[in-house]
Amino acid sequence: MGAGISRPQARAPGTGRVVIVSNRVPSPNEKAATAGGLAVALADAATSGSMWFGWSGRRAEETSAEASIALSDEGVTYATIDIAERDYQKFYNGFANGALWPLLHYRTGLLRFNRPDYEAYRLVNRAFAHALLPLLEPDDLIWVHDYQLMTLAAELRALGVENRIGFFLHVPFVPPSLLQVLPPAAEIMAALSACDVIGFQTVGDVKAFLENVSETLGVEPGRDNRYSYASREIRVVHTPIGIDAKKFAKLAERAELTPEAARLHESLGDRALVLGVDRLDYSKGLPQRFDAFGRLLYAYPQHRRCVNFLQIAARSRQEVGSYQTLRRELDRRAGDINGEFSDFDWVPLRYMTHPVKRNAIAGFYRRANIGLVTPLRDGMNLVAKEYVAAQDKENPGVLVLSKFAGAADELTEALIVNPFDADEVAAAMHQALVMSLEERQERHAALHTKVWTTTAQRFCEVFLAHLRGGALI
Ligand code: ADP
Ligand code: F6P
Repeated sequence: MGAGISRPQARAPGTGRVVIVSNRVPSPNEKAATAGGLAVALADAATSGSMWFGWSGRRAEETSAEASIALSDEGVTYATIDIAERDYQKFYNGFANGALWPLLHYRTGLLRFNRPDYEAYRLVNRAFAHALLPLLEPDDLIWVHDYQLMTLAAELRALGVENRIGFFLHVPFVPPSLLQVLPPAAEIMAALSACDVIGFQTVGDVKAFLENVSETLGVEPGRDNRYSYASREIRVVHTPIGIDAKKFAKLAERAELTPEAARLHESLGDRALVLGVDRLDYSKGLPQRFDAFGRLLYAYPQHRRCVNFLQIAARSRQEVGSYQTLRRELDRRAGDINGEFSDFDWVPLRYMTHPVKRNAIAGFYRRANIGLVTPLRDGMNLVAKEYVAAQDKENPGVLVLSKFAGAADELTEALIVNPFDADEVAAAMHQALVMSLEERQERHAALHTKVWTTTAQRFCEVFLAHLRGGALI
């Protein structure tokens, strides 16, 4: 990694440098190693000559006025700022993850709103804008990501930035009856409207957003999901994210040979494997999933001793109270299930909370007979797509997928379930465990085509085409 800002050459109109802005910026040489979909989906957009701007991961005494710059081996400029500890707590744990995250996942009961947290959120978004400003070139395309940065475009406009700005929301969006629970709902809608293009994961999210344009901003959207606000025309688009399926499939094939895969194979013998891989987050439906596995063992006793459930749940946002409560809850339920069904030589549920290397996860997916992806609400859920990509097409496993994951809009050949219904999820697991090879192959072939079509690369191409103001490709 070298130092220095990459200065772009003069470019033809509409072909400006892409500047990605996100709260979390992956470390330059291990782009997608951390748990979380954003880094995985954007790895492909960060190509030579582009810039990725965001938080350094450091909490300091003061927020940096200027970004630190690093150039990666692939020619991507990484520009990051430290954030003051006092602001970060309120911005990240407070407003972003204590108010916006639960609200956007339809969990108003978990929403904690207070004014100082919201003010710190605005302040951090403003600090991002100030530090980004001197790095911008006139033809840069600015692409802002996710709910932590919903007011950034408005701050950039206030500083006189006239570049094209796009915003993509990785999480779901909610209809007006829910959004209006948030006191600054109208301010946030107005701030987002400083963008030229706003993208969502699903058609349902686009619809919910446009309803808010009408009800919260009082503006009627016109043709092509466009609306005008404060002298700007905004286009709202549906651009679902994906993965680099080819690369992930290769990783999974090679991962079969890793020591981790060998240890897992050995520990399972010929038992079936049900696998869950998630951040430890209440949106992922983990307590309900544990209960469903308990129901499987209870209602279908033929699977006792013949199946293991491995849940990998990487610890996440541990300073937020609702995440601490969830962890205690899962410890308890895992103990209950194992206490009830374990034998002296068989423990049905394996539950771990530390991150696992990406290639090891790929190998685990490939060994798993069932990929159990049952969020209560999820923007997309890339784990579902990774599971499909990792399968051996001659002998594929079965994806059991929540109807409330954005991925369920596309991956309709999975066994689609309501994650709130433990009996239904247990029945789907049973169906998967007894499914014929022919049916598994048919379902997998259809899912494979989809995961190979809506890739991360396609996501970036389509969103950036909209941002350039061009037609769909
Ligand atoms: P989210 O963005 O809400 O975390 P996604 O399913 O879209 O959910 O993306 C999760 C990404 O993080 C996937 O690429 C997945 O492989 C990775 N991941 C999830 N859990 C773990 C874990 N326990 N250890 C390592 N990586 C994980
Ligand atoms: O899915 C939403 C999301 O913000 C992703 O975009 C991100 O990768 C993940 O959650 C991890 O969040 P955090 O940065 O809080 O660990």
